[in-house]
Amino acid sequence: MTCRILVLISGSGTNLQALIDSLQAHPDKGQIVAVISNRPQALGLERARNAGLNALALDNRDYPDRESYDQALIEQIDRFRPDLVLLAGFMRILTEQFVSHYRGFLLNIHPSLLPKYKGLNTHQRVLDSGDSEHGSTVHFVTQELDGGPLILQASIQVLSDDTPASLATRVQQQEHNLYPLVMHWFIQGRLRLVDDQACLDGQAIPPAGLRLEDFNNDMREDPYAS
Ligand code: GAR
Repeated sequence: MTCRILVLISGSGTNLQALIDSLQAHPDKGQIVAVISNRPQALGLERARNAGLNALALDNRDYPDRESYDQALIEQIDRFRPDLVLLAGFMRILTEQFVSHYRGFLLNIHPSLLPKYKGLNTHQRVLDSGDSEHGSTVHFVTQELDGGPLILQASIQVLSDDTPASLATRVQQQEHNLYPLVMHWFIQGRLRLVDDQACLDGQAIPPAGLRLEDFNNDMREDPYAS
């Protein structure tokens, strides 16, 4: 059965592009059924259209409050009957109603080594703190902002001449490996949220999440080779 994937974006959509590219060889396993952006001008919508995908804008400025926007978003999303909803640079705080509606099949990618630096401006905050390591995390989305069970993290070294822009570039390069790998785990039925616990292959994922460097082989190999 093909996994029906819906991607929510707000911006340039480089993560979306990585997901599209990594599904190209496996159309029978996973299919992006739609891409929805809260910003009509998002470059990611262009990427979606170029890939022949349904690309929709649902502008949050057309709604009086968060509740009514999220309700409209749920209605749009559910038309596509997704099995998996991926937040890929979707820059909105979600209502409780939205999060509970997609519980267990809603993932987010966040540009920090969670639980450090929840929220915005993560690259600047890493520099301000003098950290030597930075990175990105994919996690299940639950009610707490950037606080759901961690799945997989990728890290980079912070260099003495780094700027927020240079960190963002290197973090995003890692994200383009990180998010597709986790997506394929979900498609394969290997990744699940059981109660409040993220599990891979039936094993509880430690609270600090797994590390991408431990899965280099998984990235090199065809995830569907038997
Ligand atoms: C990514 O770096 C992602 O981690 C971040 O936005 C960027 C989107 O880039 N997400 C967040 O900050 C969510 N809190 P993209 O549009 O090129 O994929």
